[in-house]
Amino acid sequence: MQHTVLNTIGNTPLVKLTKINPYPHIDIYVKLEFFNPSGSIKDRIVNHIINDAEASGQLKPGGIIIENTSGNTGAAVAMNAAIRGYKAILTMPDKVSKEKQDALRAYGAEVVVCPTSAPPDSPEHYVNKARSLAADTPNSFMLNQYDNPKNPEAHYRTTGPEIWQQTAGKVTHFVAAGSTGGTISGIGRYLKEQNPDIQVVMPDPVGSIYYEYFKTGVVPEPQENTYQVEGVGEDHLAKAMDFSVVDEMYQFTDLDAFSTARKLAREEGIFGGGTGGANVWGALKLAATLEQPATIVTVIPDNGVKYMSKFYNDDWMRQQGYDV
Ligand SMILES: Cc1ncc(COP(=O)(O)O)c(C=O)c1O
Repeated sequence: MQHTVLNTIGNTPLVKLTKINPYPHIDIYVKLEFFNPSGSIKDRIVNHIINDAEASGQLKPGGIIIENTSGNTGAAVAMNAAIRGYKAILTMPDKVSKEKQDALRAYGAEVVVCPTSAPPDSPEHYVNKARSLAADTPNSFMLNQYDNPKNPEAHYRTTGPEIWQQTAGKVTHFVAAGSTGGTISGIGRYLKEQNPDIQVVMPDPVGSIYYEYFKTGVVPEPQENTYQVEGVGEDHLAKAMDFSVVDEMYQFTDLDAFSTARKLAREEGIFGGGTGGANVWGALKLAATLEQPATIVTVIPDNGVKYMSKFYNDDWMRQQGYDV
């Protein structure tokens, strides 16, 4: 096979937290998914879905790839479209950082920005906007990352086995917040098949429906998006999200995520996004509950550069009312 940027997806490093983990009997490892070429974990699923769509004939030469995205899937689609010769149209909510919007344009994609305040049943909601564009655009293909089983399958086939091999089977707990749920569902299923004792924990932002659904079994009424963390939590149940692999959920605040991400950068030299902060916050909360030695693995889904104008900016943090 020709060696292209797509061949550099996956096989990301796994590193141990050595400074911010106060529990000597617990090892916490983070998988640095910003090593993927478009800068996030989403390269894995997008590449897998597009390979499959080409093989099945759903995506044809000259085709247009359309997707709703909080930015990272969009960058992965835009990168894939650039090298494979497709056009990409991406819809996103306006809370997505300017850096992420511009990155898609840099790859040559068309970006449609939608109001974050649009409720899930509004035609202006970014998911509905992508669906209507796909319906109206001939020769288009929609990845449908929320409901596509190829999304968790990409993690079941790549990220899960990598974690198992990189820890030499020592992993005892896996932690990941979710949006489509592809990451936690695919990795969780793979790891539990290797060792059914492995526990899977999902942090979820206050304001997302997942936590309440997990605890009560009832889907709460969708609320207006109230949290700033980009890329996790949901206002609807994604089909890619498999709650049967989740053992426990925690709720986190924006400040939990942002302050932990900033700490990771300053103390561990790991410059990740807000969801990486949320995941490490979850791993530390879990570690505080464990009496026996354990090996916790979590992921840093994307790169901190994407949030320079937001929580890595002290003025922005102060505007939100946070101490810096
Ligand atoms: C920054 C970031 N972190 C985490 C996730 C969650 O991944 P998943 O959709 O696999 O649950 C996403 C997904 O959009 C993301 O963009």
